[in-house]
Order: sequence, then structure tokens, then C-alpha cells
Amino acid sequence: MERIDLLVTGIGRLVSPPGNVPRCGQQMKQVDVITEAAVAIREGRIVAFGAARDVMSLLASVEIVEIIDVGGRMVTPGLVDPHTHLVHGGSREHELALKRSGVSYLDILAQGGGILNTVQSTHAASEQELYDKAHRSLNEMLLNGVTTVEAKSGYGLTLEDELKQLRVAKHLNDTNPVEIVSTFMGAHAVPPAYKGRTEEYVDLIVNDMIPMVAEEELAEFCDVFCEQGVFTIEQTRRILLKGLEYGLLPKIHADEIEPLGGAELAGEIGAISAEHLLAATDKGFAAMAEQGVIPVLLPGTSFNLGLTKHARARDMIDAFELPVAIATDYNPGSCPTESIQLVMMLASLNLKMTPEEILTACTINAANALGRGQHIGSIAVGKRADLTIFDAPNLAYLPYHFGINHTFGVIKNGKVIVW
Ligand code: NIG
Ligand code: FE
Repeated sequence: MERIDLLVTGIGRLVSPPGNVPRCGQQMKQVDVITEAAVAIREGRIVAFGAARDVMSLLASVEIVEIIDVGGRMVTPGLVDPHTHLVHGGSREHELALKRSGVSYLDILAQGGGILNTVQSTHAASEQELYDKAHRSLNEMLLNGVTTVEAKSGYGLTLEDELKQLRVAKHLNDTNPVEIVSTFMGAHAVPPAYKGRTEEYVDLIVNDMIPMVAEEELAEFCDVFCEQGVFTIEQTRRILLKGLEYGLLPKIHADEIEPLGGAELAGEIGAISAEHLLAATDKGFAAMAEQGVIPVLLPGTSFNLGLTKHARARDMIDAFELPVAIATDYNPGSCPTESIQLVMMLASLNLKMTPEEILTACTINAANALGRGQHIGSIAVGKRADLTIFDAPNLAYLPYHFGINHTFGVIKNGKVIVW
């Protein structure tokens, strides 16, 4: 080793799940903790880490360009948010009173509001306006310690507007330190022009949208809102298999409200992940476990929808040995928050996950839900140097002291971005 670009030292606790692959069941509780640690970075990658004295002796005759001392704070892998609807126009605070008076999420959608309201605002917005709004949200996420974020389309619902949303996501990725991973979700709702003709809208998705998204290389994944009154199991299967033909890996908004069998379908087609899952059955969990589908749970959404029912994280982890991930689901309707730390607290409160499980869910399991477990999601030699520095003494402190931002600094690809 001739040179180190950045040495991060003075780390009170360096905490990370081990390895690159999803951590299933009880493995989620096992994280590596090194006290008084240091991390050495070269060309954006981790080249050494461990007890500070060991790292220092390894680097005895090596040129070190920059050293930062984090003052005894806790360092984890950069957090990964694997499910958001980052790019959209407008906001929906006008629906708050409706929601508070008891009108359900699906009823608001059936009346032409909800997602369809945001579709209008997104249509009306220019690419620059969409970029500016999403950019502010992305900054919030970064300040919360997030270094990689998934972004779904699905507020366009026409070929042109879906491409517009995805181009904005690409532009955000090209111009910001946080990596944006794009998912095509033309099947987020049935647009009013196709009301009562869902099958014809599915034709448009499979014949026109998917080929164009793939040709322009605007997404890696394809997602469908598989739900009562939205897209059926058969329609979801048709869309996702067509996506696969074009190299888009399947994800499903599955069994959120009704147990339609989205989790079973995720197993059947070998989806990379299935998300929400509040109503999923044991059969669905078994199908997911068999095929290694990652459950992405969104406790901020059930919280904000005022539900008393929550995803059965304990059963998924303890009985089905699934590799649970968590995400914000940031969107203007069911979960208008960018705060992964709030969602971590809700994973503790409502999903009864332990602090170690929550870290695993937000790092290596989330990275694998985006097909990036080899590169991010844990602290290991050769991996990208994405680190979050928390002004907290230990992991349990994060969900314990809630409602504030504990991030002290963020390093992305070996560069200090927040300090
Ligand atoms: O994941 N459930 C469907 N889609 C989003 C909500 C989108 C919206 O309400 O704008 C979700 O919760
Ligand atoms: Fe969502």
C-alpha cells in the first residue's frame, strides 16, 4: 500500500453486519462491533479497518492524505433506503382531513385522489421542478445518513411521463453523491383514461413502456402495486415476467391491504423483494423463504395510515428465517417522510425488531434488496467506503432517543459529504 486517501479514526464503536449476502433470521442479530476503531480508504474503497492501533501499525510507512477524527462517535455502513417514491410533483396535505375522518387509502384512490392526484401534479411539473423537489428530499435523506436510495416511477402512468420521472432520477444520480437506483413502476395505479380497462393499460405497459424503459436504460427493477382494485395477481405476473424478459428484476408492492397472494407470486417468479406485506400469509412467507425473496417492510407507512396492524416482522425473522429489510416508502400520500431514523424507531416500536436487526435491515439486507450486496451495506475490505457517523454511543440509542437526527457525518465513496 503506497497511499491512503482518507483515514477515519477516533471511532468509539464501528458497527456492521458481516459479509455481502442477505442476513436471514437469527443472523440479523449478529453484528460485528469494534471499539476504538479506524477505517482506511483509498480510491473510494475500504482498504483496511479494525482496532485503531492495528490499522495504524499496518499503515506505519504509508502516506496518509487526510485524517478525520470522529471524536469517539459510532460509525456504521452508510444506510440504504430500498423503497421510495422520490420523484413526484406536489403534495397531498389536503387529504389529511379526509384521512382523519376515516376515509380509507383505497377509497381516496377510487375517488380519483391519492396516487392519481400526484399523477396530475407530476404531469404538470417540468423536469426541473421535479428535480428541485426531489433534490431537497434527497438532501434530507443524506442528512439522515442514507448513502443509497431506490426511486420508483409510477406518478406518470403515460409513456412520456413515466420516462420523465425516470430521467429526473437518472439526472439526480448523475449530479449527487447519493446513489439513486431506479425502479419502473408504471403499474402503480390505473390512469383515469383507462378506467374500467385495466387490461388495456397493462397492454400499454408491456408493449410500450417496458421496452422503452429498457432501451433507454432508465431502470434496473420493475414493480407493481398488486392490490384489490388496482392490479390483480395475473396482471402483476404478466407485467413482471415481461420486465424480466427486458432485464428488469421484479419487485412487488405485495399484500399490503388484502392478502391477494403477492408474497406467493414473489416466490413463484423469484422476485428480488416483496414490499409492505402487512396482510401476507404464512404460505406467502414460506414461498418467499424458499426462493430467497427479501421482505422490505415499511413501518412508517402503517404508522402514518394510522393502522393498528403491522407487518409480522417477528414471524418473518424467527419462524421463516427471512432476511428482513426496512425502508421509508417516502411518498406524498401514505408516508410523507424522508426520515429513515424515524422509520428505524418505528421498526423497534411496532415491528419489535432489535437495534441490531434494524441496522442489518437498513444496511446489508437493504443493499441486497437492490442487488448491491457485493458493493455496499457492510464494512469490509474492497467495499465502497460509504459510512455514516452517528452522534450516539451505541445502536440502541438510535430508536431510544427518538424524533431527532443523530447523524453527525456521512462519507460516500470515500468522500466526506456531511460533517
Ligand atoms: O407504497 N401503495 C402504493 N404506493 C405507495 C403510496 C403512493 C401514494 O400514496 O402516493 C406506497 O405506499
Ligand atoms: Fe411504495
